[in-house]
Amino acid sequence: MKKFSISIPASSGNLGPGFDSAGMALNLYLTLHVEERGQWEILHESPYLPSVTDYTEHLIYQTAEKVAIRYQKQLPGCKVTIESDIPLARGLGSSASAVLAGIELANQLCDLNLTSEQKLQYGTEIEGHPDNVAPALYGGIVFSAETADGIIEHLKTGPGGLELVIYIPDTELKTEKARRLVPDTFSRNHASSASAISNVMVAAMLSGDYALAGRMMERDMFHEPYRAEVIPNYELIRRNAKKKGAFGTVISGAGPSMISFVPDGEGKRVCRDMKEVLSDYDVAVLKIDEMGLKVEK
Ligand code: HSE
Repeated sequence: MKKFSISIPASSGNLGPGFDSAGMALNLYLTLHVEERGQWEILHESPYLPSVTDYTEHLIYQTAEKVAIRYQKQLPGCKVTIESDIPLARGLGSSASAVLAGIELANQLCDLNLTSEQKLQYGTEIEGHPDNVAPALYGGIVFSAETADGIIEHLKTGPGGLELVIYIPDTELKTEKARRLVPDTFSRNHASSASAISNVMVAAMLSGDYALAGRMMERDMFHEPYRAEVIPNYELIRRNAKKKGAFGTVISGAGPSMISFVPDGEGKRVCRDMKEVLSDYDVAVLKIDEMGLKVEK
């Protein structure tokens, strides 16, 4: 009878102009404690998670079952106790973490020996884009692209010298709703300006020029201008964080949380100052998780 734990970090997608492509893993975790036994049972032990009424409707179970069926395997029964520090529907990649948890659960229970590439592929198929799945799987900041033939290319980087300050409001925003606000098409001029901004942001991140990266993050033309209206205090947060020394502040994933990139060692101060501006928010210092998905036996 197997007994193991799976831990997966939260993630913040987009990094501004890296829409659906760039993302970073954060040091908040979804953790599953799994014990194989006759019957299925899923228990939640987190203030962020509602109680489980029917395990067959659970995203983690459904994902695990989908993967098992793909390999003509049957999932053995098990008890899964789930802990999580990742709030739901706040732009912190909770669904990508859950999808990866389901993939890894099937991998372990059915001895599938999946490669990281396969996990990324299956996770992206379910999520629709790799910007959260890739960093949650690999850790670090990951830039990824799904090509027309369905292959997902990615590059992981672990830039030093950065801390993050996250601003989580007490409201949810569903990704589907936030995606409907983004136009389906852009003119050639718009697309070339938007991708130029994205290119410079990525180049600046990779060369450690965070001041330039931060300026480019705040000039996104792919999604932020269309979503700003549904992100509480969008301009106020950007303006104040910049005044307090942030390199740049973006919508975390599809929102409603926002996240600032700040110089290493400045996180606590920026966090304290921003708490005064955002008294009804959960404001916290986060770090980039470098490890990604982990299994312990
Ligand atoms: N890239 C996604 C979006 C992240 O912005 O809609 C949320 O799933």
